[in-house]
Amino acid sequence: MAAEQDQRDGHSLRRRVFEILEHGRRREPASRAIDWLLVVLVVANVVATVAHTVPEIAARHGAALQLLDRVCVLVFAVEYLARIWVAPEHPLLHRYTPAGARLRFAATPLMVIDALALLPLLLELLFPSTELMLLTRLVRFLKLARYSPALATLGRLIASERRALLACVIIFTGILLAAAAAMHVVEGAVQPERLGDMPKAIWWAASMLAKIGGGELAPVTTLGRILAAITVMLGIVCFALPVAIIGRGFYEEIRRRDFVVTFAMVARVPLFARLDAAAIASLVDMLRARTVPAATTIIRKGGRGDAMYFIASGRVEVESANDKVVLQEGDFFGEIALLSREPRSATVTALRPTDLLVLDADDFLRLVDRLPDIGAKVQAVAKERRLTSPPRG
Ligand code: CMP
Repeated sequence: MAAEQDQRDGHSLRRRVFEILEHGRRREPASRAIDWLLVVLVVANVVATVAHTVPEIAARHGAALQLLDRVCVLVFAVEYLARIWVAPEHPLLHRYTPAGARLRFAATPLMVIDALALLPLLLELLFPSTELMLLTRLVRFLKLARYSPALATLGRLIASERRALLACVIIFTGILLAAAAAMHVVEGAVQPERLGDMPKAIWWAASMLAKIGGGELAPVTTLGRILAAITVMLGIVCFALPVAIIGRGFYEEIRRRDFVVTFAMVARVPLFARLDAAAIASLVDMLRARTVPAATTIIRKGGRGDAMYFIASGRVEVESANDKVVLQEGDFFGEIALLSREPRSATVTALRPTDLLVLDADDFLRLVDRLPDIGAKVQAVAKERRLTSPPRG
């Protein structure tokens, strides 16, 4: 009995620490205080690391800076271990054993950054060289990524535009090499100290492309000047291209959200009708819009469940093992796989052009966690549907 009680207490403490550390969205005071403390420590640590490289500051405040570093590392280590400890509480990791959940959580990008932030301590013990330490300590700056949702958007954009961005890198490298080679041929003999070999000429071309080329990089022959002018102009194209790609991506991301998912649209869904304005506003942030043409298969029976859907307008047909049901505006589907963690129980096809509000699996679990009433209603509908069209076999 006592052991069971201890285990229950342990779980509720773990749940509480999880809510404080990982549920930043709830913005409760304890969460906010910890977030601020960590941000301040990361910034202080990076400033101290940079300051330590100035000999006068190191001589005068070396001991204090060292102490600050030790305190930061200690806090970061406790934070890292606490995050790993509470990982089994994460809604997306409930299905794994505690050890499995912790391993999976440790492999997420933010946790890898946190682990890297602790690396200097290990390196310091193994190889006490200060040069390497500077680089590894500055990795801690990346810990701030946790506190910038915009960075996540940028990360997604870079991932989705990687082919276009890779093309930019190839174009840039091609222009760099061509400009360097042309300049080496034309002025290599006249300016051997700047253009006498390809590495020197590549540095010249890179400076020209980045438009940092000042007087000392000026060509001395007419052909050299023409080449330099072309290189500078191409440099503008090289920098404008990725800027345009990322800029357009940001614009589309913002337009996609504002254009389709509106407050009124979410409030019209019967399941959400009784929610207060703040809850609906948070749903507007969570839901993605997707328009599908008639005859599109939205869900295929047996597939993996990664989202559920609300019909904003249009009509779909659910085809299960033994019947066909039509769902329309205001209805939802795709909840069974998320709740049961089993493969999709039916195939869902659009009967006409249909606007859908998509709720991703992790947001669904977060929503159920935050609004248990909504969770219970979804569960009741899912139960009824499973009774009407039970899985065969
Ligand atoms: P899921 O199993 O995730 O994917 C297929 C969806 O079809 C399922 O969730 C339900 O949302 C929906 N569905 C299955 N059976 C019925 C039914 N009898 N009536 C209405 N919808 C259903």
